[in-house]
Amino acid sequence: MAFDRVFLDELSARNDIVEVVSQYVPLKKSGANYFGLCPFHNEKSASFSVSPDKQIFHCFGCGAGGGVITFVMKAEGLEFPDAVRFLAARAGMQVPEQGEADRQAARRRDRLYALCRDAGRFYYDTLWKPENRAAQEYFLRRGLHRRTMNRFGLGYAPDSFHALLDAMTGKGYMREELLDAGLVSRSEKGHIYDRFRGRVMFPIIDVRGNVIAFGGRVLDDSKPKYLNSPETPIFHKSRNLFAMNLAKTTKNGYFILAEGYMDVIALHQAGFDSAVASLGTSLTEEQARMIARHTDRIVISYDADGAGQAAAQRAIDILKKCDLQVKVLKIPGAKDPDEFIKERGADAFRSLIERSEDHNAYRIEQIAAKYDLEDDEARVLFLRDAARMLAGIESSIEREVYAGRAAKMAGVTAEAMNVEVRRELGVRRKRQKAAERREIRSPVGLAQPKDRTLAYTDMKSAKAEENVLRLLFSDQKLIAGIEQMLPPAWFSAPVLRKIYERVLALDREGQIVDVLSFEGWLEPNEMSLLSGILEQGLPPGEHRQELAEYINMIRMQRIRDGTLMKAGEDPLLTFGRIKKQNAGGQTI
Ligand code: GTP
Ligand code: MN
Repeated sequence: MAFDRVFLDELSARNDIVEVVSQYVPLKKSGANYFGLCPFHNEKSASFSVSPDKQIFHCFGCGAGGGVITFVMKAEGLEFPDAVRFLAARAGMQVPEQGEADRQAARRRDRLYALCRDAGRFYYDTLWKPENRAAQEYFLRRGLHRRTMNRFGLGYAPDSFHALLDAMTGKGYMREELLDAGLVSRSEKGHIYDRFRGRVMFPIIDVRGNVIAFGGRVLDDSKPKYLNSPETPIFHKSRNLFAMNLAKTTKNGYFILAEGYMDVIALHQAGFDSAVASLGTSLTEEQARMIARHTDRIVISYDADGAGQAAAQRAIDILKKCDLQVKVLKIPGAKDPDEFIKERGADAFRSLIERSEDHNAYRIEQIAAKYDLEDDEARVLFLRDAARMLAGIESSIEREVYAGRAAKMAGVTAEAMNVEVRRELGVRRKRQKAAERREIRSPVGLAQPKDRTLAYTDMKSAKAEENVLRLLFSDQKLIAGIEQMLPPAWFSAPVLRKIYERVLALDREGQIVDVLSFEGWLEPNEMSLLSGILEQGLPPGEHRQELAEYINMIRMQRIRDGTLMKAGEDPLLTFGRIKKQNAGGQTI
């Protein structure tokens, strides 16, 4: 949802970032900025800074950063519009009426919510028709009680190309709306037909209780086993968890993360009402944050097969980032939770949960499984491997505990293990120091983004691109005419290009280019990157000249990597020519 810029300006003026942050973290002034302990990661020395001039915060430790709205989003666990409302309430401001475009979009979305709810009801009614006994029996055979089926709103899509289409258009929905909701597909010839046919149906419901999508399963062994709704204006797979609408009110102290629809349903039926699933994809950070809003402990309960275990490893990292205490449950006999509960019952599963291991122990076991611990040589390799993993544990007490465990597994003394770990820690510290030194020595901070998904592929170019952005944000006059000198396609880092393109668009529309105009528009990790770029002050000097130099640097890199070439010219010649121009002090 878009808020009016005038309103956002006032909002930001009346919510000074230093004041807002101070309500969460004690801040101390030092030079132009304020410093404190970062509320977003554990630290003992203050690496969290707030700049009153730029109205941004930035943590040098974990990389988090952004403007005042981003701060509230992170601190309060709110989405952008709710963070805006939160700040409006804090400043005693009225949130303005939405514009006509927003109202229309909201109406369209409301229609899609209604359509999905009606479709869910249609599938549900269809399931209980006498002619669909096979579908009813499918669920019963899998051990579901009627009460559970109703609780999850399970249904059946008849084996027809137009049953849902007819029923929904009969209720006054447009074909376009059915397409938008992903309930029908369009053939090459332009015919519209039901997407789900002859499948048992699992409605996907968002946290607020709206039906937003469906998963459908075949009743036999045909392929694909599951068919899910596509991304739609109301369904974003990466932002939803199956059964979160139920799990969010659990009294359980922990959540259970499973892989499949049936696992979650079986878990709920067995009394584990805090089970959710990530809808058949690997867990995303957004999903992890959703979980972290409701609990601080989670048990991963993925399939016992190789794919499930690999997915568990990835999920651990993502969940740890959200400060969740993570355990991993192991199901004997290579079963999934659904099969296990059906065979052994709820109590047996509960004892698996009680015996589930801390993720560190789980990791050590995964490492141990790679080596034959009867063999001396393999044992040495295991110790090295385990030491590397152990050195990554932050708490020294935890490190001790798990080092002891690894030592026992390899049949060596704890002392021998600790020697290895200390050596690894030394290596790590040295590496870290060297990295810090490099960062300090280089005035532009030759650092990769903290978030590895945003990693730069061309460091030299990316740093020049960062500097271009820093200049443009500091002096909007520099933007005029820059697009001809520096086309967006020359950017090597997608995230920087995305920011650059918006800078150009904002300027074209006569809008202000500042952090505020990016809040709620960039993903949180992208926002952190931007705040890191802007946090670094500008080196003194003539900015127009400097800008020209950075543009030239980027251009050189594009020639070097072959993106850019004069028509018919040998790339080496081009390279030489540009170099000579530079030597002559000429730029661009
Ligand atoms: P059941 O056979 O019904 O017990 O399935 P399961 O829940 O044990 O499924 P499985 O472990 O095979 O897959 C886990 C999850 O991945 C499912 O719940 C689906 O969300 C998803 N999934 C599985 N198969 C497919 C498929 O063929 N296509 C798609 N899109 N998703 C699938
Ligand atoms: Mn299964």
